[in-house]
Amino acid sequence: MSAALSIRGVGLTYPTRSGQTEALADVDVDIGEGEFVALLGPSGCGKSTLLRLAAGLLSPTRGRITLNGHPVDGPSRGTGVVFQKPSLLPWKTVRENVLLPARTQGLDLCRAKARADQLLELVGLTTFAGNYPFELSGGMQQRVGIARMLLPDPALLLMDEPFAALDALSRETLTFALQDIWSVQRKSVLFITHSIPEAVFLADRILVMSPRPGRIVESLQNPLARPRSVDTFDHPDFTALTQHLRRHFNAH
Ligand SMILES: Nc1ncnc2c1ncn2[C@@H]1O[C@H](COP(=O)(O)OP(=O)(O)OP(=O)(O)O)[C@@H](O)[C@H]1O
Ligand SMILES: [Mg+2]
Repeated sequence: MSAALSIRGVGLTYPTRSGQTEALADVDVDIGEGEFVALLGPSGCGKSTLLRLAAGLLSPTRGRITLNGHPVDGPSRGTGVVFQKPSLLPWKTVRENVLLPARTQGLDLCRAKARADQLLELVGLTTFAGNYPFELSGGMQQRVGIARMLLPDPALLLMDEPFAALDALSRETLTFALQDIWSVQRKSVLFITHSIPEAVFLADRILVMSPRPGRIVESLQNPLARPRSVDTFDHPDFTALTQHLRRHFNAH
């Protein structure tokens, strides 16, 4: 499988007023085309830093990051990013928010409008297309953020705890929705989460980071078949993998 995203020997040290903070040390990550990779690690270990580096929003202190063989030296149209909160424009409707990248990236407006409608259907928000963000629940707003990220059809999705601010039920619903979207759109995904079951449910591979300075200490292939469903949570492979990860984090 050809690597869509390649992170090699990457380190990042933040200069701060009280000295230097080494956030990441010698990180190697490869994400293949169409591969869904989840990243788990303790708070402050450098996960968001790694995501910002992959998005081209930060430059590494050491090492090299490439996307399909090209150095990542700034934000790329081929990469979509979702953060914990979707930061929608409150004076624009759901559909207008999804269409924002069409203007900023100079996309063909006619095609973008058709795609926005398809994406709204995919995330289950067709009937709310004309509503404003304040009229939506947190989970619905997050779905708008996901549709907006998908509008320019990025090959790589970088998601930083996208469901962290949601209640448990919305979170589970969106986890299922994300699997559905991914199975239709087949993107390469780097998905950061603090939830072990979420990582095991969604990912093809799970990376485990050490405490700061972050390093990848384990890479676990997920044997669970797709599509995954509510029954997946009772599968012995699901239990074995979640238990393994729980033991890892409890031991540390
Ligand atoms: N802009 C910054 N300037 C200085 N230090 C920073 C900056 N951003 C992050 N750090 C430091 O780098 C380390 C890693 O931070 P990062 O946000 O990447 O962690 P994280 O794994 O995403 O944590 P969490 O799970 O809590 O979101 C932390 O010690 C943090 O204090
Ligand atoms: Mg973070």
